Amino acid sequence: MAKNNVIAALDIGTKKVTTLIAQINEDNSFSIIGKGVAENNKGLIAGDVVDVQATAAAIRDSVSEAEKISSKRIKSVFVAISGEGIRSINNHGVIQVRGQEVEKTDVDRVIEQAKIITMPDDSDIINVEIGKYTVDGKAGIVNPIGMACRKLEVDVLIVTMPKTMCRNLYKAVEDAGFIVSGGVVSAIASSWAVLENDERDLGVAMVDIGDGVADIAIYYNGDPLYVAVMPMGGKFITDDISKVMKIPPVEAEKIKCKYGDARPDFVDETEEFKTVIIGTNAPTTKKAKQLAKVITPRIEEILVEVKKKLMDSRKESFIQSNVVLTGGTAKLKNIQCIAEDTLEQTVRIGIPKIDDPGSGFQDVLSSPAFSTAVGIIRHFTVRKQLEIVKRDGVLAKLADIIKNFFE
Ligand SMILES: Nc1ncnc2c1ncn2[C@@H]1O[C@H](COP(=O)(O)OP(=O)(O)OP(=O)(O)O)[C@@H](O)[C@H]1O
Ligand SMILES: [Mg+2]
Repeated sequence: MAKNNVIAALDIGTKKVTTLIAQINEDNSFSIIGKGVAENNKGLIAGDVVDVQATAAAIRDSVSEAEKISSKRIKSVFVAISGEGIRSINNHGVIQVRGQEVEKTDVDRVIEQAKIITMPDDSDIINVEIGKYTVDGKAGIVNPIGMACRKLEVDVLIVTMPKTMCRNLYKAVEDAGFIVSGGVVSAIASSWAVLENDERDLGVAMVDIGDGVADIAIYYNGDPLYVAVMPMGGKFITDDISKVMKIPPVEAEKIKCKYGDARPDFVDETEEFKTVIIGTNAPTTKKAKQLAKVITPRIEEILVEVKKKLMDSRKESFIQSNVVLTGGTAKLKNIQCIAEDTLEQTVRIGIPKIDDPGSGFQDVLSSPAFSTAVGIIRHFTVRKQLEIVKRDGVLAKLADIIKNFFE
């Protein structure tokens, strides 16, 4: 295996840090050859790194597990970037083409022009997603190179984040001993893992509800139109269970995943589970219906906020196919029904697609909790290059980035 065909993806979540090591095949498909997951209970709040050392430790554990499984040594990683302060801006570039036909330099120039935006000094651009080109008024062009043209235009989506938050994330990776080779906003990564091309063309919303945040992306005509992050996730549900039912947080988390249901009316009166109660040692029996009654208002609240965010985006009318729910919280039983009622859209649960289901990483294939990590790899195979925010805050594109990643 050629060593420069292997990449590592790092998803630093509020609940867990995931590392996936993938081999990129000649046909641009990928095979996952290593996976590591480490708990990250202290490092992040609402998607932002608040404890660099704890996060760095979780990153080291997660990478080291993936290294062992794959027998590869990792030097650098591609990261998913999330956090409450993420914003997206739709922008447009226009240039006069100098020659008779569009050349690569014209495309670079129009993209550079589209990147010019006024934004707060304390923010960095973390991604520029290139949309379609317009050639002398003809819109919807995917690749204008070689076309006769005088006026070239492009639509882009620019994703920004507060500088300090971005730096803390990169610092955690660097303190763990790795180089950041590129970054992609988590919402776009997850979208690459779970969305169908037809959905992206028709218009779709991807909502990745994790533990501390919900990452949202809206696509239309194949391109992302909007990205946002909401500081809400499964942790809110666990905290409610713990407070209302007086169950220790670690136990509440397990009970939510095992017996939790978003629809109390679907739960049988007789269904029960045993749990410990704060302040006592003896196990107590509780009704699953009571648990569901604690879960429902909170998941409904999260979904109402998602609906508001979609409406505030002013892009809601573009969602013509589905809302695709993913992230660990999408595993909550009957979340699909409650989401359809609340969002007033058809909803499906998105599971990450991997190209090589026979690789033995079936859990990756079947769990919405791994959408972001898988999506980093798919995004990479499609875009070929990812962006990185340099120390001086300038966004650089790294060509040929697969080179020299591994010792
Ligand atoms: N079966 C289940 N039922 C309900 N919730 C579940 C289930 N499985 C996992 N979860 C919840 O999913 C959440 C974790 O999701 P995920 O792994 O996507 O989060 P993360 O990526 O670490 O965090 P974030 O993206 O919010 O920073 C936790 O709150 C967990 O309790
Ligand atoms: Mg996540």
